[in-house]
Amino acid sequence: MPNKIGYYGEWGGAFIPEVLHETFREFNQAFGAVRHDPTFWAEYCDLMSTYSCRPTPLTHAENMSKKLGGAQIFIKREDLNHTGAHKANNVMGQGLLVRRMGKKRVIAETGAGQHGVATATMAAKFGFACTIYMGEEDVNRQRPNVFWMEKLGAEVVPVTSGSKTLKDAINAAFRDWVTNMDSTHYVMGTVCGPHPFPELVAWFQSIIGIEARKQIVTQFGKAPSRVYACVGGGSNAMGIFQGFLDQPAVELVGVEAGGDGLTTGRHAARLAATDASAGVAQGYKTMFLQDSDGQMQDTHSVAAGLDYVGVSPILVDLWQQGRVRFEAATDREVMAALDETVKNEGIIPALESSHAFVQAYKEAGQLKPDEAIIINMSGRGDKDIFTIANAFQDPSWKRFIIEKGKEYAAQK
Ligand SMILES: Cc1ncc(COP(=O)(O)O)c(C=O)c1O
Repeated sequence: MPNKIGYYGEWGGAFIPEVLHETFREFNQAFGAVRHDPTFWAEYCDLMSTYSCRPTPLTHAENMSKKLGGAQIFIKREDLNHTGAHKANNVMGQGLLVRRMGKKRVIAETGAGQHGVATATMAAKFGFACTIYMGEEDVNRQRPNVFWMEKLGAEVVPVTSGSKTLKDAINAAFRDWVTNMDSTHYVMGTVCGPHPFPELVAWFQSIIGIEARKQIVTQFGKAPSRVYACVGGGSNAMGIFQGFLDQPAVELVGVEAGGDGLTTGRHAARLAATDASAGVAQGYKTMFLQDSDGQMQDTHSVAAGLDYVGVSPILVDLWQQGRVRFEAATDREVMAALDETVKNEGIIPALESSHAFVQAYKEAGQLKPDEAIIINMSGRGDKDIFTIANAFQDPSWKRFIIEKGKEYAAQK
């Protein structure tokens, strides 16, 4: 829990323009009311079980456990959520909140497009107008998600400023909100941004940890030794970690995007590397990848959803306390772990989630077969087919794309 002004230790807060003060006052009030209303959480759980396949299963990865010869590996299957990722947990919760606040339009930023698709889906279900801001680079690499957002009725605005990725999309969404705050709610996609967003998003995502804690005891008989999650802004990690925070024997491991390698400058590791420093941007204080003048640096990752300069203030605080360990996985390692998981378990993790698999696979052999580890599989890899096929240099896929290109060119 943050203090009264939204700080987790020295991190977080709410650095917002004066024009948004009244909007944030209403937002804080509405969130405070639902947080203390048990009927709201019951309504949320009911919606998630009838619309989004909750509780999601915990799958024993028997083949990989045998192959690596150490701990029993369990996978929390957030890919089986409606729209294919954990993003639905947060978005549907915020949808219920927006309905209570009486607003009629939602906006959101998106990186990989999963949060955008989830928000557009929620808007279609609740009858809200919807605008999604997405960096132009992400629009190009996540075209299937852009297609679905538009089909779901959302307007997708490609953002051409800065590095044309997630941080630029967040800036554009804030600019929209400042102009349209009376009618509009900003559905922040992760546990970042000004207070109360980190607290609000972590609250909705806690459903992952609540379920996983019960499931591992039912299926394995005891708590896991370690829990792994990838970290972009940090929402899927905070979701599962909250189920185990009060069990100090459970080690919590966050895995960031190591991109081309931590010494190359082409990565998005804020806490696993030493390049980040404390700063205030996008409405909150955290560790940012920035230069000595406070200019945000360009980040790189094969996984669009991890390609972000900041990180949750809650996770920075837990890291400083030594409660969460941070590691990084390179793009190359991610492709190898994805390949192993697909071939041995018949499960296709998203590129983002595959970062958590890399670290878990590296460490499973250090533990004994009567211990368990959990990997939070934040989403499914279908959206990544273009990137994955390209990385594997799949010749028949390449032929297929070239033929499709010719077909489209002929139509013109
Ligand atoms: C499948 C998936 N996993 C993880 C992330 C990273 O976000 P977070 O760190 O908030 O869970 C994203 C972001 O788009 C995503 O799409």
